[in-house]
Amino acid sequence: MNARKVIIDCDPGIDDVLALMLALRSPEMEVLGVTTVCGNVPAAQGGENALKTLEFLKRLDVPVYLGEARPLRRAYVDATDTHGADGLGESFLPNVEKVRPKEGAVDFLAETLKREKQVSIIALGPLTNIARLIECHPEALYSLDELISMGGSYKSHGNCSPVAEYNYWCDPDAAKAVYEAFDRHPALREKQVHMVGLDVTREILLTPNLVEYMCCLSREIGAFIRKITRFYFDFHWKQEGVIGCVINDPLAVAYFIDRSLCDGIDAYTQVETEGNSFGQTLADPYGIWKKEKNSHILTKTDPMKFMEFFITRVFGVPASQVRPILRQIMVENAGKLVWAQKEASLFDEGEGGAEE
Ligand code: BDR
Ligand code: CA
Repeated sequence: MNARKVIIDCDPGIDDVLALMLALRSPEMEVLGVTTVCGNVPAAQGGENALKTLEFLKRLDVPVYLGEARPLRRAYVDATDTHGADGLGESFLPNVEKVRPKEGAVDFLAETLKREKQVSIIALGPLTNIARLIECHPEALYSLDELISMGGSYKSHGNCSPVAEYNYWCDPDAAKAVYEAFDRHPALREKQVHMVGLDVTREILLTPNLVEYMCCLSREIGAFIRKITRFYFDFHWKQEGVIGCVINDPLAVAYFIDRSLCDGIDAYTQVETEGNSFGQTLADPYGIWKKEKNSHILTKTDPMKFMEFFITRVFGVPASQVRPILRQIMVENAGKLVWAQKEASLFDEGEGGAEE
């Protein structure tokens, strides 16, 4: 199999760690490195968390580089309320001492792109490193294969303001610069940002019964996931009235490997940087602005198919074994299997929902 070369740019972060686990257990991709950016936690803490994950996966051969310590223009606001003081759900796992993160994520991105040619970037945090790459090393962009970005939202509501998703809200100027580059830069004009936003990631729920199932499949991996997600569960209960937690980032990795997991639309997209709506993605799929479509926005996904994809890879079990268990814990809604817990969420409209 010809594995596609990838750099994972992230802000680990609980769901970033789950995404790294999925990536490193997927033979279709060769992870050339992990770069961190300030987001859920400062870039340096993200570097420690990336190394903790790589050590757990016995993949300390993958280099970790520290990136931008603050957003392009705005003051930095972390997301430790969601991910815990250490970014890993206050699991306080010990730092890895035998390998340390290196400085210079943006230079690493540029050098690796130029050397390897045809490298994709999966960005799971604010787009600050990518904006700096575009600004400082425009020649490297000719080697970019695809950019997959977890961020933004099309029709779904925001998670940091009524309209903005965290990664783009944290550094809206970077997100804006990246989408503009895919409109204007000669190396990127023909390409699109693959926007894996809240419209699809909100559908991916890790529930307590799934975690229990994971513990049955592997005591070690299950315990690791349980340890880092407990805090995230509590946050979701308080914030959204849902039992379980939304895991956004692994869907971006899964989509990179298997396009059949999601559907989407092409659109010209801009990111708002001012006023109450900063961080909002303004998408124009109908061509009202008569602009070239610089993004592919994911609008639909199949949560059951994703979870089967995740579990079979991370736990090395066949789909035939996973499917019946998923069927036990999902309910049908409009012909699609979704999480029972999500249907009962206090946050959703309708029965049991916020509108009641
Ligand atoms: C995104 O923000 C972070 O908190 C998550 O890691 C994810 O990348 C979701 O809005
Ligand atoms: Ca993230």
